Amino acid sequence: MTLETLVNDYKAKTSRSRQMYEEALRVMPGGNSRTTTFFDPYPFFITRGAGARIWDADGAERLDFNGNYTSLILGHAHPSVVEAVAEQATRGMSFPGPSEHEVRLAGLLTTRIPSMEVVRFANSGTEATMNAVRAARAFTGRSKLAKFEGAYHGTHDWVLVSVSPDPAKSGSRKRPKPVASSGGVPDTVLKHTVVLPWNDAEACVKILEKQGRDIAALIVDPLMANAGLLEPQPGFLERLREVTERLGIVLIFDEVISFRVAPGGAQQRFGVRPDLTTLGKIIGGGLAVGAFGGRAEVMNYYDPRGGKGRISHGGTFNANPVTMAGGVATMQELTPEAYARLDALGDRLRAGVKRVLSKSKQAAQVTGLGSLFWIHWTKKRLTDYRSRVPADAERPLRTFMGLLNDGVLLTQRGLGCCSLAMTDADVDRFLEVFGRVVEKEA
Ligand SMILES: Cc1ncc(COP(=O)(O)O)c(C=O)c1O
Repeated sequence: MTLETLVNDYKAKTSRSRQMYEEALRVMPGGNSRTTTFFDPYPFFITRGAGARIWDADGAERLDFNGNYTSLILGHAHPSVVEAVAEQATRGMSFPGPSEHEVRLAGLLTTRIPSMEVVRFANSGTEATMNAVRAARAFTGRSKLAKFEGAYHGTHDWVLVSVSPDPAKSGSRKRPKPVASSGGVPDTVLKHTVVLPWNDAEACVKILEKQGRDIAALIVDPLMANAGLLEPQPGFLERLREVTERLGIVLIFDEVISFRVAPGGAQQRFGVRPDLTTLGKIIGGGLAVGAFGGRAEVMNYYDPRGGKGRISHGGTFNANPVTMAGGVATMQELTPEAYARLDALGDRLRAGVKRVLSKSKQAAQVTGLGSLFWIHWTKKRLTDYRSRVPADAERPLRTFMGLLNDGVLLTQRGLGCCSLAMTDADVDRFLEVFGRVVEKEA
């Protein structure tokens, strides 16, 4: 089925969203406040979410495998989160001082993540990575930041480099060139960024050894979640740990998404201990949140009681009590049994997708871990960002649109997730619809 046919079908089903979008266009550039959620011809407007389902302005119901881009691990409006948030909201939405919920959430996180000796809260994953990088710079007195080609860490300048660059303009695979991923990123950022190739330990060690004494931090998403959920090859994270320790580089694990895969995140699953960890998404019960923490001697630069090189970290809504209450309620639901259930849902989905793909003889595959999955339209062995750039760039979007028109929500690029609100029957419904979408392409 062509993209045009899919878009026409979508338009026919979303007339109220179209009206709202036209209104939005008059007051916002592109009618939009969040680039990620935009797609042509216009995104559907969402009016309600409950459990595993979401409803749009035209009244259409969809099974939600997007989960606000992996945030909603319990599904929409989980009763215990709603209760905790509502209870706090009636007592006050935000205060000019700390609350008990903040200390409780900090306690829950530091207990789950042993490398996180201490933690601070912010309002987004972006703020979390920005502050972790700043801590590393203050601690080491160095200014460069190393990151992986294809990795996404939010929208501040220091990480908007080589997020989804054109490989033809990014130098060699073994020594990728820093490329700005957005307008407005100053050249000085590129000069202070070292880009590494994922899963190539030899190349990484070589680059880091050469520039290591200038590098404050290496930021790593241990699952490369936004580059296609590309698991680290055995021993790769261990090599990064060894070389960063040897060169005095602060190793930051950005677990904004990968914290989904175990009670202690990907670092627990892979058995590698970073210096700092950044969190977001699932830890706020669906509200705006970020957190960063780790070794006390690095984090102590944030101690407001003073000291040399103190970092100021204001933020009107940092650790606001409603978010913290939602976060505590969410963490309490995430028991070991809950993770086993999430793993089972993810395994069922990935196995089913493999069956559909092999039956239809599609050049495709599925990656992922725990409740996370990504459908790739290539048979190539996926090791790094460059290997996963799809040959047919439009195929992920056609899949997204096909699913959307048939009552299932994914992300535009192929990333999806299961939530605890889902049943096996919901996963099977995904597979049935996915099968139909794939068939129409065959
Ligand atoms: C790995 C990773 N880091 C950081 C961020 C930024 O988080 P936020 O969107 O809350 O700013 C994201 C967002 O998707 C992410 O996936």
